[in-house]
Amino acid sequence: MAVARVLCPTLVGRDTELSRLEDSLLAALRGDGGVVIVGGEAGMGKTRLVSALAMRARRLGSVVISGGCSEAELSLPYLPFLEAIGNYLATTDIAALRERLGSAAEELAQLFPQMGRPATNTGDAAQAKLRLFESMLLLLRDAARSRAVLLILEDLQWADPATRELLDYATRRLRSTNVLIVATYRSDELHRKHALLPTIQGWRRSGQVEMVELEALDSSRVADMVCAIFDEASISDEFRDFLRERSEGNPFVLEEMLRDALDRGDIYRGATGWDRKSVVEMRIPRTVQDTILQRLERLDREHVGVLSAASAIGRSFDLETLAAVAGVDQSAVLSALEASVTAQLLEEENRTSGRYQFRHALTREAVYEDLVVPRRQQLHSRVADVLASRPDRVAVDLANHLLMAGRYDEAVAMCVAAADDAMRALAYRDAAELLERASPHVRDQVDRARMLCRAADAYWNNSESANARRLLEQGIPDLESAGLNVEAAGYRVMLGRCWWELLRSDLAEEQFQKARGVLEAAGPSEALAIAYVRLSGLASFNSDLVTSLDYATRGVATAEAAGAGLARAWSLIFMAGAELGLGQVEAGFAHLEESYQASVAGHYRFQIGNAVYNATWEAIHLGAVDKVNIWFDRLGAVGHTADEWPLYVRGLLGLARGRVVEAIDLARTSVQRSRDAGYQKMVWRATVLLAQALAENMRAEEAASALPPLSSRVDSQDGIYDTAARVRGRLALGDVAGAASDAKTMPSIS
Ligand SMILES: Nc1ncnc2c1ncn2[C@@H]1O[C@H](COP(=O)(O)OP(=O)(O)O)[C@@H](O)[C@H]1O
Ligand SMILES: [Mg+2]
Repeated sequence: MAVARVLCPTLVGRDTELSRLEDSLLAALRGDGGVVIVGGEAGMGKTRLVSALAMRARRLGSVVISGGCSEAELSLPYLPFLEAIGNYLATTDIAALRERLGSAAEELAQLFPQMGRPATNTGDAAQAKLRLFESMLLLLRDAARSRAVLLILEDLQWADPATRELLDYATRRLRSTNVLIVATYRSDELHRKHALLPTIQGWRRSGQVEMVELEALDSSRVADMVCAIFDEASISDEFRDFLRERSEGNPFVLEEMLRDALDRGDIYRGATGWDRKSVVEMRIPRTVQDTILQRLERLDREHVGVLSAASAIGRSFDLETLAAVAGVDQSAVLSALEASVTAQLLEEENRTSGRYQFRHALTREAVYEDLVVPRRQQLHSRVADVLASRPDRVAVDLANHLLMAGRYDEAVAMCVAAADDAMRALAYRDAAELLERASPHVRDQVDRARMLCRAADAYWNNSESANARRLLEQGIPDLESAGLNVEAAGYRVMLGRCWWELLRSDLAEEQFQKARGVLEAAGPSEALAIAYVRLSGLASFNSDLVTSLDYATRGVATAEAAGAGLARAWSLIFMAGAELGLGQVEAGFAHLEESYQASVAGHYRFQIGNAVYNATWEAIHLGAVDKVNIWFDRLGAVGHTADEWPLYVRGLLGLARGRVVEAIDLARTSVQRSRDAGYQKMVWRATVLLAQALAENMRAEEAASALPPLSSRVDSQDGIYDTAARVRGRLALGDVAGAASDAKTMPSIS
């Protein structure tokens, strides 16, 4: 045969798309980085286009790193980032890097053990996750400190939830950096309920992300590809139109069709160059899957067996694993690999690694889909056995193959192990999905209920109240019917919190009270203390401060009796809140002080922040100068918070001290940072502060347009935050009557 492989040697067309990518790259070189998403059908040329960009970037001296998502149902959290950054770290002086990254290195150690000892995360789950995200971006910025970084993430349609979240976060955080992320996704996979779809729609709406869509090649581009492949000057219009129609302008399909035509002798080398049968005589299969399967049929049976085994392992595999799974010796595997490479089904990943991969995901799919289900199960079962014997085995990979093999008991255990790994990586949603995926295969009712409640907890950590609620409502009754009432009560407190987040404080109260009833009978416990804290919070929300104080006091006593330090620090804050509301100012500040000291001693980062935030806010609003000074100095002890509320507090204080311009500045930054971190509540508060500061500065029009509408208030309590801004704004506009009527909306405290 004259041509070993029918692959187009040059990049055909795509000039507009490539120059858009190059513009983004040049922008990143200038310090204006960002995210570009390349979408298109499978085979349309996304990988090819992005490799062209990578080549260009390397020539310009940029660092290029890349990683891909896995087509397996379950995958390691952050997989493409792990791959790309892992490769980068392998060529980096780790000690120097750790030095430069400071505390971010500890956060990163959760994902990259080579970075040292991981930070211990106590307190707020959402904050911990954002710190990890921020650290990842810091690492990328560090890599880009002297040259630009191009990070390529392939096949987002298969991304795990944590990867989607981190990328989404990155879209808001790469401006004014030298980092460009280019991510690809298969648009034909995005069915109506695909998890990536809302993210992509969000990117389209926000305009933060540059979107490049790869369309089908037109017939003249199809002709260009054919000419390039066969090194011919031109082809007939008839042949061109035939190929364009059959391939629908998809480059992968075109290459596969031509390959097939060559194999059948429809295209052949004649005396004067390439020749072909007439278009009507050509027998090109209807679908690209069929062209692949035709080629499979031309292979030896033994070779087909090896290739089938490979398709169960995944898109890419190493020799040793394949030999073990196929159950043949390495030389038989090698000859199968050679035949498959020649048949344009596989390719070497790179010359030295001993790894091979299917030429395209569609190639693997075609081979795999052709297997009957029992054969697939058998192969997955073998893959599982081979992987299980390895010291570096990864729970989630094993879980995948065990599930596909129908070995459910073992699969459940591996899903649980993988979920634990995901929790350690702060990939809460990944953990939740793993547990949820495993739960139907758990036989014991109590075990299953526990698993659902753990999944709910993971969703809760990810601020997904609706999902958490759904699972708790399934799990709790089963725990209770098994007599595990105390355990169930802990989850009822969580269910109450979900209802609260879902704006149903009535249903929240019902759950807290149920939990309290059960827990009180069982004696002091951390869970009971937390139930009291929640009830205290609800009462204060309903402006019933006496009841709120009562519950909080019980919370403190219970936490002390149970030796629950965090719950105690927390209850003290609620005590203080109620006392301050009731005018017991000294008692309130004393309890805030107690909470602060306990939180510092216990390293409850989040609680330290809570105490400082509440105390400064109250002190500023009460005009208690000495207290403002004490608490303001402690802002420094809070450390980094993703939503940057300390900026907001500084702005408040600036305003209180009459430093209006400074307050405007701080409020603006706080709005921006909170928006970046996705903290809507803090965005709202900081926006209100901004409006008020503008009004104080007599920039009435600006103030009026900055002020968020009343309708965006979530709690009636929010009136405490925005009424003053409204009144000042109206006064600045000269609207005294409006000011008076706004003043009346201030919530009264009974
Ligand atoms: N513009 C192009 N010019 C030449 N060959 C192309 C072009 N686009 C894609 N190809 C070839 O088509 C095949 C499929 O492309 P690929 O980039 O892997 O598709 P995708 O990543 O969109 O699934 C590859 O062999 C690739 O080299
Ligand atoms: Mg691709």
